Amino acid sequence: MKFDQCRPLITGSSRGIGRAFVDAFLEAGVPKIYAGVRNEDAAAAAAAIDPRVHPLVVDTTRPEQVEQAAREASDVTVLVNNAGVLHYASFLNAPDLGQARHEMEVNYFGPLAMARAFAPALTRSKGTIVNILSIAALAYMPLVGTYNASKAAARSMTQGLRVDLAEAGVAVMAVYAGGYDTEMHLETTDKALLNPPSVLTEAVLEALISGGVDELFPDAAARGLAQRLGLIAAA
Ligand SMILES: NC(=O)c1ccc[n+]([C@@H]2O[C@H](COP(=O)([O-])OP(=O)(O)OC[C@H]3O[C@@H](n4cnc5c(N)ncnc54)[C@H](OP(=O)(O)O)[C@@H]3O)[C@@H](O)[C@H]2O)c1
Repeated sequence: MKFDQCRPLITGSSRGIGRAFVDAFLEAGVPKIYAGVRNEDAAAAAAAIDPRVHPLVVDTTRPEQVEQAAREASDVTVLVNNAGVLHYASFLNAPDLGQARHEMEVNYFGPLAMARAFAPALTRSKGTIVNILSIAALAYMPLVGTYNASKAAARSMTQGLRVDLAEAGVAVMAVYAGGYDTEMHLETTDKALLNPPSVLTEAVLEALISGGVDELFPDAAARGLAQRLGLIAAA
């Protein structure tokens, strides 16, 4: 992929890994970037970053906003499904199913809705979907059980979309993130375990340049788990 013709859309770009994607794509020289945010204040902040940034108000759980975004950003070539939530809820100790349902809405149904809405544009551009998953999609982590389940569902969807879109020439990449220093990890006390978001964004941009990367393990924790599970060869 050449970035001078790349027009990415990043969901959840107001902060954290999404914001790091905006910076990374701008640095790489894209002519236009769609920054998915959830309110007008965040849209104004995104527009102020760089003239190439076009804010899109899109809560991925709201079908009318997803459809509107697909109409506005019909020239997208890379869809980064980054928006996500984590409630630190376990299967049995959460008070009710509310947090589990919210994680499923944002982490699974949101990317699915975006993929469906943007499939025509990505088919036209022979583009790429990048789904930001988690190592939690690969192995059970007791404190975040319901998040695991939502990311595992998104992993299954990612693998299915890859098959469904192959004939249309659309690539679908799964990114299994370890720990990153963002607001999602405010409760994590050992910050030494966390990577800066740029570790993930640099790995994704390198994978887009090289092409042909379906499954990406962007950091040491992700690669270590993938090796233990036999998903990649030992270093
Ligand atoms: N941080 C990590 O260690 C880690 C590890 C593995 C995977 N990930 C994944 O990486 C992605 C980014 O996480 P992060 O660490 O950057 O999290 P973050 O700092 O909490 O940011 C989450 C982003 O998602 C947006 N968002 C939340 N609900 C949304 C919705 N319904 N529609 C659209 N946008 C929504 C938020 O927007 P607002 O600002 O409007 O709330 C925010 O921009 C997530 O998918 C997460 O699961 C993160």
